[in-house]
Amino acid sequence: MLPEKLENALDEMISSIPQVKLTKAYEELSSFYKERGSSLPLLKSKEQKCAYLVARFPATFAAITEVLSKLSWMYSLSPSSFLDLGAGPGTAFLAAQELFGGIKSAHLVERDSEFIDLGKKITGYAIGSHPHWLLKDLRQLEVEQNYDLVVASYSLGELEQRDLIQILDKVWPKVNGAFVIIEPGTPRGFENIKTIRQHLINLGGFLIAPCPHAGTCPMATDDWCHFSVRLNRSKSHRVTKQAALAYEDEKFSYIVISKQKIPVPTARIIRHPTKHPGHVNFTLCTASGIQKKTLSKKDKALYKDARKKDWGDELTF
Ligand SMILES: C[S@@+](CC[C@H](N)C(=O)[O-])C[C@H]1O[C@@H](n2cnc3c(N)ncnc32)[C@H](O)[C@@H]1O
Repeated sequence: MLPEKLENALDEMISSIPQVKLTKAYEELSSFYKERGSSLPLLKSKEQKCAYLVARFPATFAAITEVLSKLSWMYSLSPSSFLDLGAGPGTAFLAAQELFGGIKSAHLVERDSEFIDLGKKITGYAIGSHPHWLLKDLRQLEVEQNYDLVVASYSLGELEQRDLIQILDKVWPKVNGAFVIIEPGTPRGFENIKTIRQHLINLGGFLIAPCPHAGTCPMATDDWCHFSVRLNRSKSHRVTKQAALAYEDEKFSYIVISKQKIPVPTARIIRHPTKHPGHVNFTLCTASGIQKKTLSKKDKALYKDARKKDWGDELTF
């Protein structure tokens, strides 16, 4: 999933850090995630940031790529201006540039100067592109220009609710095209997404994905809307995490909201479909709530299409 040039750039960047230090730093990251649910505190050491690069960056990159691919498919977006809120090492910019190319003006906001240094290296190595980095706390951000695409990946959940709302109020008027917010696929990450969803709808935004409607979210209170993307683990990723498997599944919740109204699908598939000979069972989010639906051979073209669908895909019927 991570392009080879990015994998090579990462390996080069961490080559000076002894593996034992990276593994220990990853254990520290992992216990932060466990303690705090979905957010990270300010990472203190360079080793922790490098552990993020090796062991979290490939997963957040994969989640961002998955969401932006859906967006580009539905929306024919070709952004030339880009803003990243809480950029870390520039993950969203790298994913967006890889997917769309053609971003001419990119502003990446990050409060941690060491992450910015790492980000400058990796964006330089990997795509030879030099976005404009802003060393700033999002709470003090003044947004001066408009952007075709704004992304906040795995970052807004680190803010207090009142700061989050204030940032949405500041950023939304400057979104020309789409605003993409991704959070960890946990109950807490989904709670953040629900808050953001409602606030941006109140500000006049049009939902593009994943919700096929702008009504009240029908998800049960003991459940959470999330999706999953599978990514390969490189050797350094595996060793740092002390993981046996050559792949992992990254769970994420997200919302894409736009200034433009575009046709949205009838439904979003919110569980793995169960595929049987002759029929497929789906759990769907629709404008009339969460529904079970079976499509069978009798449904002809619809069924043929449905057999190729997976958790997270849209379904129109
Ligand atoms: C979990 S990392 C995600 C990084 C990147 N967006 C990604 O998807 O890989 C969260 C990032 O948000 C940044 N961040 C959190 N709160 C911030 C704030 N108030 N102002 C600026 N950056 C912030 C953190 O420093 C960190 O780099």
